[in-house]
Amino acid sequence: MSNSAPILELRNVTKRIGGKTIVDHLSFDIPQGVVFGLLGPNGAGKTTTIRMITGLISMTEGSVKIGGLDVNSRFEDAMKLMGGIVENPEMYKYLTGYQNLIHFSRMHEGISKDRLKEVIDLVGLGNRIHDKVKRYSLGMRQRLGVAQALMHRPKLLILDEPTNGLDPAGIRELRDYLRRLAREEGITVLVSSHLLSEMELMCDRVAVIQTGKLVGIQEMGDITRADGAGHVRFDISRPVEGAEIIGRLYPEAKVLADTSGFEAILEREEIPVIIEQLVKEGFRVYGVKASGRSLEDKFLEMTGSGQIE
Ligand SMILES: Nc1ncnc2c1ncn2[C@@H]1O[C@H](COP(=O)(O)OP(=O)(O)O)[C@@H](O)[C@H]1O
Ligand SMILES: [Mg+2]
Repeated sequence: MSNSAPILELRNVTKRIGGKTIVDHLSFDIPQGVVFGLLGPNGAGKTTTIRMITGLISMTEGSVKIGGLDVNSRFEDAMKLMGGIVENPEMYKYLTGYQNLIHFSRMHEGISKDRLKEVIDLVGLGNRIHDKVKRYSLGMRQRLGVAQALMHRPKLLILDEPTNGLDPAGIRELRDYLRRLAREEGITVLVSSHLLSEMELMCDRVAVIQTGKLVGIQEMGDITRADGAGHVRFDISRPVEGAEIIGRLYPEAKVLADTSGFEAILEREEIPVIIEQLVKEGFRVYGVKASGRSLEDKFLEMTGSGQIE
């Protein structure tokens, strides 16, 4: 983490195609060393935004700077700072992972075998790198794509919907890995997704976009914090009965029972009081978890829409 200049700056980035505004005056900064999410429902303009950042399509209006370099006027220098996978990484399935990396390394100058070994270790593919790609899981292919995007030592890694098609274990793997990159290597990661739950787990900060417009930027620390009013889950015996009692005592808490317990919106200091009450009333308390406000709540509040998954 560093307090230096932002690695990516968007100012009024706009794309109009055939009279339709697809991305509408988008402005935000990404500081170095964070995992930054671009979150929005399908069709929000995430891919179009990423394509403008990576220079795959032109902007109608606005500017993008990578490491202070304007993408329009200093394109080649700006691109050296960036590695990215837009859409699915193209790999040759009948070649090994290693052969693929050798192939892609020829597109850059001066990538040594040692550097290749470094990125292979970094993405944890050491044991399988000489297997054919057709025998890789989707998660492994995704990691090979990341190795490819990282080989020329970019400062900014951009991944468009990298978790598409991954199973929960694969998503977890990718997430842990991206967080490690940001933390240990100081690489900044920009990742897009239409899935709130993933962004919540993966990102330090999220920009929410809808119909091409920025609707809010959310610090993940702010909403997962357990102090202040938050969602709290109690796993107890006789959940319906317990929820009824607590709901009467705390009408503001919107207590909701299910088969194994209940959830309530509570102030931090109310939690120990409720545990005491439950125990006194003879309920068995199996677990209490303060989950903070979810990004979903926040997302709905910001967009006022239910267009999420
Ligand atoms: N080349 C294009 N011509 C016309 N409309 C486009 C073009 N590319 C994207 N769009 C439209 O722009 C909107 C945003 O698309 P996209 O950036 O792919 O969204 P996301 O990646 O968030 O799902 C969609 O409504 C899409 O249909
Ligand atoms: Mg997209």
